[in-house]
Amino acid sequence: MNLSYENLMNHKISYFNIKDIASILDINLGLALVEQAYTLISQGGIDSPSKISVFLPENSDCVKAWINAMPALIKTDNVVGQKWVSVCSNNSSKNLPTTIGTILLNDAISGVPLAIIDGTYITHIRTGVSLAIGVKYFTDTHLDELTLIGAGSEARTALLAISKIRNLKKIRLFDINPLNVQSLISELGEKLNAEFVICKSAEEASYGSKCVISCTTASEPVVYKQWCDPLAFISSLSGVRDIDLNIINSSQHIVFDRTESAIKRIEALSNMHISKDKAVDLCDYIANNNQQPYLANDKGFTTYLPLGLGGVDVYIANYIYSNNNSLKQLNF
Ligand SMILES: NC(=O)c1ccc[n+]([C@@H]2O[C@H](COP(=O)([O-])OP(=O)(O)OC[C@H]3O[C@@H](n4cnc5c(N)ncnc54)[C@H](O)[C@@H]3O)[C@@H](O)[C@H]2O)c1
Repeated sequence: MNLSYENLMNHKISYFNIKDIASILDINLGLALVEQAYTLISQGGIDSPSKISVFLPENSDCVKAWINAMPALIKTDNVVGQKWVSVCSNNSSKNLPTTIGTILLNDAISGVPLAIIDGTYITHIRTGVSLAIGVKYFTDTHLDELTLIGAGSEARTALLAISKIRNLKKIRLFDINPLNVQSLISELGEKLNAEFVICKSAEEASYGSKCVISCTTASEPVVYKQWCDPLAFISSLSGVRDIDLNIINSSQHIVFDRTESAIKRIEALSNMHISKDKAVDLCDYIANNNQQPYLANDKGFTTYLPLGLGGVDVYIANYIYSNNNSLKQLNF
């Protein structure tokens, strides 16, 4: 066999499954790593190009089904990687997570593959944490109540992460599937020292709320402007899909994890025009205002739309690989 093939085959690939990741990555580590990644993205230490979506056969008006390629270069460590993550909203009927990811890391100098890493657990932790970081920087430190619409995987890590940032006393919850509400409460009830109020509608859950977080797979708006406190912090994981567009129009600040790529993606997927005048870039905000935790709003909502950045996922994956790379190795 060609010598160069033999040399390549002498390399080992590390493999980390969900259990491996869950034993290493917790919410506290997630909070630290996601903030570091946001800062590095702003400062140029991480390149995080826009994600690309491939729509899957079941994708339709009422079923969300796609897979995203989310590449990134961690310049500080000469590692390049990609998260390949699907969102298949019918998966609960198959008893599978809606969001399933895999991360591949390569040496950025030679291109040699280094690791295959579960991206499902990393996605759940970093997504919940990204919501908590929004709460940290864009809500009053005294916030002790919130509304959560959707009680799936991302909602759970969001609650765990927000409870590290704010002293939550009351959580109003709504999900179209009451079983998901029950299972969320049995999973988190004892971990969070808060009262859970199960609501019969999204309106009841968000009425007058100062903090509304939507973590649904809905294809239509579930949260409307007229229900929320006029100065509320409102966040959605779905871009603008599951919140009323009047919320965007009535916002004083629209915070994106990365403004440029988020606006491009939202405009491409929704035909909506978003003005950059109100936009706040979270990566830049954290890099430049680390000691100023609260961007106050006195003229409207603060809407927070963290669309997800490959640079954050690959940074976390690389941290896990670099600190545990002898865990399980496969021949190339
Ligand atoms: N922005 C990001 O970085 C990012 C990352 C991962 C997932 N997501 C998105 O987050 C959303 C949630 O993902 P997940 O993995 O938690 O999915 P999940 O299936 O675990 O949870 C979704 C929940 O939404 C509920 N729901 C659906 N329609 C609803 C409605 N009309 N009203 C109330 N509840 C409703 C479902 O019953 C379910 O409990 C998805 O839209 C996914 O695309 C975003």
